[in-house]
Amino acid sequence: MSEPAIQIQNFSKEYPVPRQKARRVAVNDLSLEAPAGGLFGFLGPNGAGKTTTIKMLLGFIPPTRGGAWLFGVPVADDAARRRVGYLPEQPYFPKFLSAQEVVRAHAGLAGLAGARARERAEACLHQVGMWDNRHMTLAKCSKGMTQRVGLASALVGDPDLLILDEPSSGLDPLGRRELRELLAALRGAGKTIFLSSHLLSEMESVCDRVGVLAKGKLVACGAPAEITRTRDQVAVLVAQTERDEVLAHEVEAHGGRVEADGEKTRLLIPAERVYNVMGLLERRRARLLSVAPQRETLEEAFLRLVG
Ligand SMILES: Nc1ncnc2c1ncn2[C@@H]1O[C@H](COP(=O)(O)OP(=O)(O)O)[C@@H](O)[C@H]1O
Ligand SMILES: [Mg+2]
Repeated sequence: MSEPAIQIQNFSKEYPVPRQKARRVAVNDLSLEAPAGGLFGFLGPNGAGKTTTIKMLLGFIPPTRGGAWLFGVPVADDAARRRVGYLPEQPYFPKFLSAQEVVRAHAGLAGLAGARARERAEACLHQVGMWDNRHMTLAKCSKGMTQRVGLASALVGDPDLLILDEPSSGLDPLGRRELRELLAALRGAGKTIFLSSHLLSEMESVCDRVGVLAKGKLVACGAPAEITRTRDQVAVLVAQTERDEVLAHEVEAHGGRVEADGEKTRLLIPAERVYNVMGLLERRRARLLSVAPQRETLEEAFLRLVG
């Protein structure tokens, strides 16, 4: 096994509360590992401690306790950030600069110069869909455009590890889909992506692994399928255009539910009644399309874990 991209051991962060002796615990004894390669989703509601953890991970603020390593290098060491691209939660850029100037400036910060810096900046502006708007000043950019400029700036140094704090905030649904596609492409190119999001359901499908954070504590960590449970429910899809009241009645008698799904009908039934309902369907000569056990979503798993 290669060195993990991220290793966090017993991170805690306490912030002082003004005019009070008590301290607010933002991150509480957090340990996790993100392997090199793949997309790690650091998920949790607003205020869970995601941004605080990321700032400690980048060495911007010191942890109250604990330590972290990026590719094996302690984060207190400046060299730890050499292979990292970072998108802050609220990227700030001088308003009078154009998108292209901002990305080029970041190429310089990443140690690139001359033609190489220009080429990388151009490639990244294309990659994030800002090429046509590259001459627009930041003052005129929408929140979504600013986010794209931030993403291009994080990518410009061709980092091995991307740390993105709420990258989909400010993006519209199309922008979010483009972001998911871009993340998938970067992941395919062998990059490690560590991103935070409060949108559990949106990130579920793209993450290889997730760490779920609630009130500063890690409540679950692993592949989404390891965290979510199958429900004691089975979804049966049948081809049916008209509502069959008799069938609906019989299914309900077995504790199930019938709902229309476009041209089809979906029956949600308790797992232990599957064979009873199959018998009903056979007698009514219904055309069966699929039978699938239902799994809870990551959001439902989260509510189960913290509730
Ligand atoms: N600089 C700070 N000073 C005091 N409290 C802070 C500071 N930054 C964050 N917090 C508090 O720490 C908790 C976690 O915040 P944050 O890490 O921003 O969460 P998230 O990114 O998951 O929304 C919140 O209760 C927040 O109010
Ligand atoms: Mg945050």
